[in-house]
Amino acid sequence: MLLRLNNIYKDYMRGKIVVPVLKDVNVSVEEGEYVAIMGPSGSGKTTLMNIIGCLDRPTKGEYYLEDINIVNYDENQLSDLRLKTLGFVFQSFNLLSQMTALDNVALPLSYAGYHVRQRRQIAYNALKRVGLEERVNFKPSQLSGGQQQRVAIARALVNNPKIILADEPTGALDSHSGIQVMELFHQLNEEGVTVVMITHDANIASHAKRVLHIFDGEIAEDVERKRKEAEQNEQSVEAPLPEKEESGSDIGTEGEDNKE
Ligand SMILES: Nc1ncnc2c1ncn2[C@@H]1O[C@H](COP(=O)(O)OP(=O)(O)OP(=O)(O)O)[C@@H](O)[C@H]1O
Ligand SMILES: [Mg+2]
Repeated sequence: MLLRLNNIYKDYMRGKIVVPVLKDVNVSVEEGEYVAIMGPSGSGKTTLMNIIGCLDRPTKGEYYLEDINIVNYDENQLSDLRLKTLGFVFQSFNLLSQMTALDNVALPLSYAGYHVRQRRQIAYNALKRVGLEERVNFKPSQLSGGQQQRVAIARALVNNPKIILADEPTGALDSHSGIQVMELFHQLNEEGVTVVMITHDANIASHAKRVLHIFDGEIAEDVERKRKEAEQNEQSVEAPLPEKEESGSDIGTEGEDNKE
C-alpha cells in the first residue's frame, strides 16, 4: 500500500475551544490510483490533504507512507519525504512572478543538490511532458491560467514524485483549461503517477477512478465501501457451492490424485 491513514483525528483550537475537524479518517491509496476527494466547503478536505502531504500532523492516528509509520518523523525527515515522494499542485498555481516557467520548474531541484545545467535540463523535460516546451522562457503573467497550472504541475513533477497531491487544481480555471489540466492528470496517472485530487466539482471528480466523499470530517465513501463489501460477502456466502464432481476441481493443491 502506498499510503494508509489509520484512525486519523485532527483538532484545531478556536480560542480555548477544541474544534474537531477530522474524525476517525481511514483511507488507503494504492500505487497507481487516481482518487478524487469531494466534499462541501469546510468539510476538512484541505486539512486531510495537508496531512497526506506531510504539511501538517494529525492530532491522533497513524500515517503509513510506503509502509512506514511517519507520524513521529521530525521536520527534516518530513521535508525530505515531501521533496522525494510528493508533488503539490494548488488552486492558485503559486508560481514566482519574476521567474520564467523554466526557472519556476527548476526551483525545487535547487534543494535537491543538482547543478544549474542539470536543473535546467530536467525542468525543460518536465515542461515538455506537460506540453509547454515552447513557453519555457515565458513569465507567469505571459501565460494563460491553464498554462500556468501546467507549469505548476511540471514543477510538481521534477523530483519524480510517486504521488501528486492537488487541491482544487481547476478551481481558478475556465472550463476549457480545466479540462486540459484534467487530461494532463489523466496522462500522468497512465504513466504511473498516483494522483490524489481535491475538488468540489462532480464533473472534475468524474475523471478520477475513485471518489472519496468527506462530510464534516468523516469519510463517507468508506462507509459505502464497507457496505458493498459486506453485501458481496453475504452474496458469496449465500451462493450455492458446486456439490458434485468435486474431484474435477483444481482448488486443492495438495490433492493426491493427479492422474495424467
Ligand atoms: N489552521 C486552522 N486553525 C483553525 N481552524 C482551521 C484551520 N484550518 C482549517 N480550519 C477549520 O477546519 C475546517 C476544515 O477546513 P478545510 O480547509 O480542511 O476545509 P475544506 O474542505 O478544504 O474547505 P474548502 O472547500 O472551502 O477549501 C474549517 O471549519 C476550518 O475553519
Ligand atoms: Mg480547501
